[in-house]
Amino acid sequence: MKGILLAGGAGTRLHPMTRAASKQMLPIYDKPMIYYPLSVLMLAGIREIMVISTPEDLPQFRRLLGSGEEIGVSFAYAEQPKPEGLAQAFHIGRDWIGGEACALGLGDNLVFGEHLSRLLRASAARQSGATVFAYQVRDPERYGVVTMDADGKPLAIVEKPSVPPSNWAVIGLYFYDRRVCDLAARVRPSARGEFEITDLNRMYLEMGELNVEKLGRGAAWLDAGTPDSLLQAATFVQTIQARQGMLVGCPEEVAFRMGWIDADRLGAHAQRLRNTELGRVLALLARGELE
Ligand code: G1P
Repeated sequence: MKGILLAGGAGTRLHPMTRAASKQMLPIYDKPMIYYPLSVLMLAGIREIMVISTPEDLPQFRRLLGSGEEIGVSFAYAEQPKPEGLAQAFHIGRDWIGGEACALGLGDNLVFGEHLSRLLRASAARQSGATVFAYQVRDPERYGVVTMDADGKPLAIVEKPSVPPSNWAVIGLYFYDRRVCDLAARVRPSARGEFEITDLNRMYLEMGELNVEKLGRGAAWLDAGTPDSLLQAATFVQTIQARQGMLVGCPEEVAFRMGWIDADRLGAHAQRLRNTELGRVLALLARGELE
């Protein structure tokens, strides 16, 4: 399975911070925002990843992430000239995807929780259909919202409803089978003029092939689209890392744990980051002093 990281948009809710920098490049505590969804795709076992961003911002992502070789993955880059909706990722990435299954991660979504990697790998391994993740929130009207029956089978999915039919928001992480590009080509622009990911998900729902995984109390889902949520996400990461001495959203660590890089390579990353707490933890991990 391949994966797309979408890091577009004007980030107007974060102006003036995003006047000259991409939203997904802003820090969440000690790392650029995009590291978090990148780590999630990697935890799902995905090693071929396309980063899509605006023509202005794409060069910065290339500079940050490079070829991917150093963390055992392969990055491709593509421009989204105008932000016309999340489903557009599958128009832009079509040739690169080449008829394979593909996941999509939004560059401003942070998801964290126990057993998450098992759930991610199981979702990536599904041969047919699509998988989305639902999380209970206080303000579902800001998101895609799914309603389910008592067995968790999805009944309906709607984008930013003014009267939310449930409080289950659909998070910005999606796994699709190999039909995704053909189906995305059939999505028509919505009233707000966007190729909505929710319309693509509804196609799978109507075929009876949309799986919804509920993320329960033990999981955290944060988006970092406003100053408040940016600060909350940073505080969350800082709290977990300071308390447990473990890392959240660190691609070098994930690459090592997945067996894609060895201890020497991890040690070299730690050395480059030696003036940071991040580097100290990576060095412990490389020396086998951290579980
Ligand atoms: C997008 C999707 C929405 C989803 C959300 C998750 O909304 O359209 O369905 O719930 O991401 O972050 P946007 O952030 O583009 O408003």
